[in-house]
This record gives sequence, structure tokens and C-alpha cells, in this order.
Amino acid sequence: MESSKLERRPAAFVTGASSGTGREASLALAKAGYDVALLGRRPAALEDVAADIRGAAGEARTICLRTDVTDPANVARSVAAFLEWSGGRVEVLLNAAGIPGPLGAAIGDIAVEDFDAVVSTNLRGPFLTMTHLLPVMYRQGGGRVVNIGGNHGLRGRAGRSTYSLSKWGLRGLTRSAALEAGPHGVTVNYVAPGAIAVDRMRLRWKAQAAEEGVSEQVVIERYVAQMGIALGRPNEPADVVAMIMFLVGEGGRNITGQELVIDGGVIV
Ligand SMILES: NC(=O)c1ccc[n+]([C@@H]2O[C@H](COP(=O)([O-])OP(=O)(O)OC[C@H]3O[C@@H](n4cnc5c(N)ncnc54)[C@H](OP(=O)(O)O)[C@@H]3O)[C@@H](O)[C@H]2O)c1
Repeated sequence: MESSKLERRPAAFVTGASSGTGREASLALAKAGYDVALLGRRPAALEDVAADIRGAAGEARTICLRTDVTDPANVARSVAAFLEWSGGRVEVLLNAAGIPGPLGAAIGDIAVEDFDAVVSTNLRGPFLTMTHLLPVMYRQGGGRVVNIGGNHGLRGRAGRSTYSLSKWGLRGLTRSAALEAGPHGVTVNYVAPGAIAVDRMRLRWKAQAAEEGVSEQVVIERYVAQMGIALGRPNEPADVVAMIMFLVGEGGRNITGQELVIDGGVIV
């Protein structure tokens, strides 16, 4: 965002920075001029991302904050450490941490512990980070929040009820927060990807291909057909990162409370 008006590099706070889309977005933010706080539960994975950032954007500062986003005390400690590091400011909050929960389990077969884990990570996590960082953005008179939801927050899907409901809930949180934050010059948006070919998904497709004795491409093509992806391919992380960078940049300054669907044409 308008970094030219700042006397220092803008600061971004990224949950789920240790892998997948959060990792790629952290790299993109660093290359775009941000100092980046990297949050996740796996310190070694966070340090890997910090090393990649040093290699790709040497001038970017990073801080690795081992954090479980479901734990209010842990989030509060990490926010305090972040604000001390950033000089009390935050320009971007990216909530990328998320878990899919049980795959293919129907209601009746889902343990309440799994329900709680999915809701705590995908919904309580963004609520907690926004609870701490929106007031900081309000005091600054600006800031950008991007919540990574999913196209399952705009549709139902058998066997994915907990994931879907958590992403629907995140839409409600995003829209309401956008209305509260607008008068303070803060935008809050929801990015709704369909499948993203992150390592976790690639491993799943690879395992399925090995089990069936077919190529990974066959598994991906079947997945594309099952999901009804008009453009015929899942997202690469870069597809989602491009939208995030648009929303935090100049083009996003008058966009708030929106769901930006990036799914190759499933929700049409
Ligand atoms: N991949 C897809 O097909 C897809 C599609 C639509 C939406 N999404 C959404 O996109 C976002 C990123 O997912 P991804 O698939 O790109 O990445 P991913 O590789 O699945 O990574 C998930 C990230 O979330 C973090 N995380 C999970 N639970 C956490 C917790 N309790 N506390 C802190 N961090 C936690 C993980 O870090 P640690 O393990 O280090 O804690 C990791 O960095 C998620 O919100 C996901 O729901 C993904």
C-alpha cells in the first residue's frame, strides 16, 4: 500500500506463513517492499520462509512468531511482540492460516473435536488477529485486511460441512468488519479460492495416483471435472497471491467487504 508516503517500510502480519499460499504471499509482500511477520506453529518452517525472503528480498525485515491462532493468549503475545518490532504499526493483516478438517466425512461421522478445531482455526483465528490489529489500523487511519476464505464459503458441499461452515462464517465476519472499519479508512476483504495446488494438495493427488496406478495428471483432470472448473485447472498459489497483492495495493483502496472468487469458474 501507499508505502511511498511512509518514512519506513510498511509492515505486514501474515498467519499461515509457514506453507502454501501464506508462504507465497509473504514472499510477494517482502518483494513489494513490506517487512513481514511470519506466523505459524512450526518454527523451522517459518525460518525457511525467512531465509527465502532474505534471498529474494534482502532488504526486507522479517520476524518469526511461533503462534497457534486458536489460542487467545498466544495470539496476544505474538501481536505484542510484532508491534514492538514494527514500531506499533501494521499496514497489512493477512489471515491465511486454515485447515480443511475431516475430508469426506458426513454429519453423523464428524467428531465434535474436529468441528471445534476447524472453527477455531478458520474463524476464531481471524477474529482474534482482527480483534488486536483493527484498533491499531483505526488509530493509524488506514490498513488492509485480507481473509483467505474459500469458494466453499459460497456453496455447500457434501462431506465438507465443517470446512464450509467455517468459511461461510468468515464471510460474515469480513462483511461486518468492513462496515465497522470503513469510516477509519481500513478495508477488509475475503479472497475465495477454489482448489490451490499447494504441496499439501499435490501430495494428496500424488498418493491417490500411486494408489490407483495412474498418473497425477489423470487424478487432477478427474478432480477438475468433479469440481466443474470451467478453465480446466486448479489455482497455482500465484493466482491467489496476485489477488491479495491487488487488494493491498493502490487498486484495492476503494474495495471493501467483498468476496473475490478465484476458482477458475466454479462459482459462476
Ligand atoms: N489449498 C487449497 O486448495 C485451498 C482452497 C481454498 C482455500 N484455501 C485456504 O487457503 C488458506 C491457506 O491454505 P493453503 O492450502 O494455501 O496452505 P497450507 O499449506 O495448508 O498451510 C496452512 C497454513 O495454516 C497454518 N495453520 C494451520 N493451523 C494453524 C494454527 N492453529 N495456528 C497457526 N497456524 C496454523 C499452517 O502453519 P503451521 O502448520 O506451521 O501451524 C500453514 O502455514 C487456508 O485458509 C485454506 O483454508 C486453501
